[in-house]
Amino acid sequence: MSFDWERDFYATTDWDRGAYLGGEAMPDHLATFFERVGVPESVADVGCGPALVPFELAPEYPETAFHCYDVAPSVVEANRERAAEAGLDNLEFAVAGLPDLGVERRFDLVYCMATLYFVADAERALVELYDMVAPGGTLVCNYPNRYTKAWVTEDTDDQRREAFELVGRGENLLSYDRIGELLGHTPRSYWSAVGAGDADYARRSSPAVYVRKPV
Ligand SMILES: C[S@@+](CC[C@H](N)C(=O)[O-])C[C@H]1O[C@@H](n2cnc3c(N)ncnc32)[C@H](O)[C@@H]1O
Repeated sequence: MSFDWERDFYATTDWDRGAYLGGEAMPDHLATFFERVGVPESVADVGCGPALVPFELAPEYPETAFHCYDVAPSVVEANRERAAEAGLDNLEFAVAGLPDLGVERRFDLVYCMATLYFVADAERALVELYDMVAPGGTLVCNYPNRYTKAWVTEDTDDQRREAFELVGRGENLLSYDRIGELLGHTPRSYWSAVGAGDADYARRSSPAVYVRKPV
């Protein structure tokens, strides 16, 4: 049976409110990116999970509306409760799954970290994410590539190998060049843009990019 985030993780484990990739450094990285491209009025975090980054940035950027989506209802509900307790009215959560998110509106910044690994049609998901970017806005995402596949193949943790099975079979791999072809614009390294090019999580098996959308 395939790994199911709701059934096999959020509904049945004591999950932590961390960021899967880059950990505690990720809110600062996105804040650095905001200052670089301009503070967005609206952000979509797709595959938000416990939403560490939006929870940290929402109070710091009260004029920015954070809209967060995840396929797993439990984490969305837990996030809603926490946002209400904290009085964060610029932070919203909804259940939605890639590649057909069904979100009609556009955002100044669309952010999708550590999520395309789990989507069978990663190419369609990527196009969907870019479609959600408003003119003049930016997509930030990471993606699985052939080095991620090698990392999964060597992993000795059974649950992680199961969760990453699409990557392990090489079924949803992307590359810089393929992303450029699909979106019609050249991706740039997000890690370099936020000064994290030397971080251990910026290894070649976990590339992260940003792609601007012309006005
Ligand atoms: C490894 S966690 C990453 C969470 C967060 N973005 C981070 O960086 O820590 C992957 C998240 O993607 C969600 N997810 C998996 N498949 C998805 C899909 N098809 N559409 C939207 N979210 C999905 C999972 O429920 C999970 O919360």
